[in-house]
Amino acid sequence: MQNKDDISISVIKRLPRYYRFLQSLKDNGIVRISSKELAARMGLTASQIRHDFNCFGGFGQQGYGYNVPELHAKIGEILCVDKEIKTILIGAGNLGKAITNKMFSKNSGFKLIGIFDKNEAICGNMIKGIPVRNVNYLENFCIDNSPVCAVTCIPSTDMEELTDLLVKVGIKSFLNFTNYDIAMAHPGVIVENVHLRDSLLTLGYLTNTSLDKSEE
Ligand code: NAI
Repeated sequence: MQNKDDISISVIKRLPRYYRFLQSLKDNGIVRISSKELAARMGLTASQIRHDFNCFGGFGQQGYGYNVPELHAKIGEILCVDKEIKTILIGAGNLGKAITNKMFSKNSGFKLIGIFDKNEAICGNMIKGIPVRNVNYLENFCIDNSPVCAVTCIPSTDMEELTDLLVKVGIKSFLNFTNYDIAMAHPGVIVENVHLRDSLLTLGYLTNTSLDKSEE
C-alpha cells in the first residue's frame, strides 16, 4: 500500500466514481465483478483499475474478481464517508438551498451545522432543519462550534472578505461555487472548485462539433 501523501490526485478523484458505480451494482444485487467487467462498464482499462486499487493495497483475489459489497465498503472507508466533517454554508439563495437539500445526505462524509446569509429577510428560515443565521454571527459561531469546511454560494465580489474571515477562524477546506480564486489568496487551504457551467460549455463544444461533422 502506498503512503497516503504519495497517491496522485487523479487516483483520488476517480474514487468517488468507483464508489458510485459500486453502489449501483450493489443496489442491483451484483455480488462479484471482474476488473475487466468493471472497466468495461466504467470506460476504463482493467490495468488502470488494478493500478488504482493497488495504491490502497489491492482489493481483489486472483481469479475471483472483486466482491462488490466489500469493495464498496472499503472505498467508502477510504473516502471517510462515515465521518462527519463539520461544515457551514454561506449564501442561502437558489444554489445554497439546493446544495443544502441535496448534498449532505448520510454517508456524505460531511455534516452541515450552520447556514449563513446577509439578507435579513431570510434569516430565521429553516432549510433541512437548520436555521439561516445572519452572517454577522458567523465569526462567533465558528469560534464556538469549530467547523472545518465551508461551502461558498455568494457573489464572487464578497468572497475576499469572507474567505479572509473564514481562514482566520479556522476553516481548512472549501467547496467553492464562486469564481473567486480562494487557493491563490490562501495557498494553505484545501479547495474544491465546482463550475457546472464549465461542463455545459464543454458539452456545447462537443455537441456543435458533432453537428458540424454530420452536416459535412
Ligand atoms: P442567489 O442570489 O440566489 O443567492 C445568493 C445568496 O447569497 C443570497 O441569499 C444573498 O443574500 C447571499 N449573500 C450575498 N452576499 C453575501 C455575503 N457577503 N454573506 C452572506 N450571504 C451573502 O444566487 P445563486 O444563484 O444561489 O448563486 C450564488 C453564487 O453561486 C454566485 O456566485 C453564482 O455565480 C454561483 N453559482 C455557481 C454555480 C457553479 O456551478 N459554480 C452554479 C450557480 C451559481
